[in-house]
Amino acid sequence: MEPAIRTRNLMKSFGAVVAARDVNVDILPGTISGLIGTNGAGKTTFINMLTGYLRPDSGSITLDGTEIVGLTSREITRLGVARSFQIPQLFNTLSAIESLELALAAQQARGLRGFALVSEDELEARAVELLKEFGLEGFANSLAGTLPEGIRKLLDIAIAMARSPRVLFLDEPTSGVAAEEKFAIMDRVIAAARHTGLTVLFVEHDMEIVRRYSDRVLAFFEGRVLIDDKPDVVLSDTQVRTLIIGEEPAHA
Ligand SMILES: Nc1ncnc2c1ncn2[C@@H]1O[C@H](COP(=O)(O)OP(=O)(O)O)[C@@H](O)[C@H]1O
Ligand SMILES: [Mg+2]
Repeated sequence: MEPAIRTRNLMKSFGAVVAARDVNVDILPGTISGLIGTNGAGKTTFINMLTGYLRPDSGSITLDGTEIVGLTSREITRLGVARSFQIPQLFNTLSAIESLELALAAQQARGLRGFALVSEDELEARAVELLKEFGLEGFANSLAGTLPEGIRKLLDIAIAMARSPRVLFLDEPTSGVAAEEKFAIMDRVIAAARHTGLTVLFVEHDMEIVRRYSDRVLAFFEGRVLIDDKPDVVLSDTQVRTLIIGEEPAHA
């Protein structure tokens, strides 16, 4: 099967810091991949390169076989790539439903010339559907700026999903929320992803979350892929345990 995402010899440096060093990754369509690594390992840089926010110094990135290095983030979005940020990028003075309607309207506006714009009623109906899918009905009319962090995270991801993407990158979707809430967020997101056969890559520090939701786990260390395998294999790998999870080596 052709990978949804393939990177070859991806390199990116910031001065003396090498944030990506020969990154070679294949991600199959419809799979959920967890991306782990200590702070500064290059996880966000990787997502920034895959979404056109940063241009790699060298190397190749293909999306369903199409080279995307050199395309703008807007062009990559049009190819069906969506993302969320470590800190949700929301308009605080719009309500949750208005935020979704805006995203849906923007999506329509990007349609090909001659495409009929959908009616306001249709936009609202789709926004309500998304609110339900993410369990946000109760917050429909709350201003984004007043929402609790976990709800902001979910709204931000629902907005990304409003574009009906094929590929979704989530940068720390559960950071800054209570442990119990992390599972609630991921349950919603992964159910929505599985429902549409979306390819997902999510950055996560909580190894229980990584284990539960990933088909595959990529572990980054100092800009390199340390290991890329099934969750059980990666999470029990000695290097991963010592360098990333920070567990004391067991005494003999
Ligand atoms: N725009 C930038 N300018 C300079 N250095 C950067 C920039 N973005 C990232 N870096 C550096 O690259 C390395 C990888 O950063 P990042 O990808 O944000 O790591 P992670 O998301 O894994 O914590 C870090 O050393 C970071 O300081
Ligand atoms: Mg980061």
